Amino acid sequence: MQEKLTFNALLDKWSRFWTENNHKQIKNSSLVPDGDTSVLFTTAGMQPLVPYLLGRPHPNGTRLYNVQTCLRTDDIEEVGDSSHLTSFHMLGNWSLGDYFKEESIKYSFNFLTNPKWLNIPLEKLSVTVFKGDENAPYDEVSAAAWEKLGIPKSRIYPLGKKDNWWAAGDTGPCGPDTEIFYDTGKPSCGESCGPACNCGKHIEIWNNVFMEYNVPAPGAKPEKLPKQNVDTGMGADRVLCVLNGYETVFERTCFMGAIVILEELSSHFSYNPSKKDNNSEAVNKDFRIIADHLRSAVFLLGDEMPTTPSNTGRGYILRRLIRRAIMCARKLYITDSRQLTKVIEYYIRYYANLYPNMDMRASDIVGEFVKEADAFGKTLASGMKEFETVVSTIKSSSERSNLITGQQVFRLYDTFGFPPELTEELAKEKGLTVDMAGFKVAYAEHQEKSRAGGADMFKGGVFRGDGAQEEMLKKLHSATHLLHAALGKVLGNTSLQRGSNITAERLRFDFLCDHKLTDDEIKRVEELVNSWIKADEPIVCNEMSLDEAKRSGAIGIFSDKYGEKVTVYSMGGFSKELCGGPHASRTGELGSFKITKEEASSAGVRRIKAELR
Ligand code: SER
Repeated sequence: MQEKLTFNALLDKWSRFWTENNHKQIKNSSLVPDGDTSVLFTTAGMQPLVPYLLGRPHPNGTRLYNVQTCLRTDDIEEVGDSSHLTSFHMLGNWSLGDYFKEESIKYSFNFLTNPKWLNIPLEKLSVTVFKGDENAPYDEVSAAAWEKLGIPKSRIYPLGKKDNWWAAGDTGPCGPDTEIFYDTGKPSCGESCGPACNCGKHIEIWNNVFMEYNVPAPGAKPEKLPKQNVDTGMGADRVLCVLNGYETVFERTCFMGAIVILEELSSHFSYNPSKKDNNSEAVNKDFRIIADHLRSAVFLLGDEMPTTPSNTGRGYILRRLIRRAIMCARKLYITDSRQLTKVIEYYIRYYANLYPNMDMRASDIVGEFVKEADAFGKTLASGMKEFETVVSTIKSSSERSNLITGQQVFRLYDTFGFPPELTEELAKEKGLTVDMAGFKVAYAEHQEKSRAGGADMFKGGVFRGDGAQEEMLKKLHSATHLLHAALGKVLGNTSLQRGSNITAERLRFDFLCDHKLTDDEIKRVEELVNSWIKADEPIVCNEMSLDEAKRSGAIGIFSDKYGEKVTVYSMGGFSKELCGGPHASRTGELGSFKITKEEASSAGVRRIKAELR
């Protein structure tokens, strides 16, 4: 079926509109943010523009627009419903101290309603504006601008900070926004139905942020910027969805093309969104997850700074996307995961227009995918052995339990990469049940710890769980710092960390090193750490500015955020590291440190596992 508005046609209109209005195009930035370690991926079109929103002159002038690929995995569990995606294209335009609220609103209104552009009937639109709080006043200018353009007062909703204040993070440029919603025509959900109620009647399509504030440090009061900027973002997937009258984002040609390939590969199942019974919904969801995750995988593998699958940070997210897609495919009886390269190739072709270099790298992208698919095949095989062990332990136990515990499911998942859905399926075949709720608790605890994305599993994290476990985690965390410092001494280099992960039993530490550690090196590292533990020094936390931290010689991952306060943990004279904590109180609490494993992690990166006894 021919779409009323295709992706390429939308991009073409977007580009012509802004060119006619004297805006310069800026390029689609890499999904890997440049010099900003506070986020793993580019999650909004404005991210690459932060320095310019703060006042630096942009080489292309003060009126800009672009199409930016973005990736957000916060909602990964929701993917498969009608609207969530892990990656999307954001159409953005900016005024860097040029025009402000009224003009920005006029531009958006014109692009949306003018027959030359998107031709959306006025009565389909409603808007929200910032209602004001202690930091900034009611945005009457925006409200008046909308009214002047013909949006009746009854469809201009003043809302609070939660809905109408936008900031990319704890610090940086921010401000009130006005959001534009499209009425899908679904029945209203009641008297209080409106843009903020999320019932599905109103879909947000565009967000105009008036960035005239900056938050210099986490928790600080927003300060006025010297210039008034505009930052807008329109989700291409959503606009195409509503304008083509689709019920879900997956009906777009882009995803349907992938789904049709999957249907051919499956031969058992077909995609049928009009069927809403539980079984069909589960099947539809699998199709959608594969279509979404493989598209994101292509964007990551094909990026100008390609991400490749690994066990930490970005690489881990990519690994998860690919493996989850493979698992869903298995549920659809697509067991030869190499066949999914057909979908990968399809997306490379589909986006050739937007990413001209991706086509040239097609064989690398496919090659990386195949490598990961094969590695996962092996993981599944070894996980299978562990699964059999779990089953025989349960069956031979005197407790006569039929339950695989949440911890066991989590271990299979975390250590063997064995997906919980698979454990559940196999358990059923063996007449066992799985404590999925327990798994979710174990998983949530782990996520809480790894929120920072794998660089430092504890950055900003809060421990949950029982007290004894919490104490152990703190000790292992402190031991990680000592290990980092000892490796620095033995290898003659500092700040070697590439990844870190802690469970209640052990620490794991990935670090830069071009060779397998010799027995002698391992022994020296252990001796150093144990001598520091013996010294029983207090573990001290100091708050300071980034500059002070750098000057003090602290090691760690430094972000470039202006004015940011950081915490530095010091232990005696031997370790000083940037870190969010928490830690033990004294090194003496750590007991005795033992390296249990030293192995390769990836090219140029070694991995140590160690325990406290
Ligand atoms: N930065 C805003 C957003 O992501 C507008 O582009 O919604």
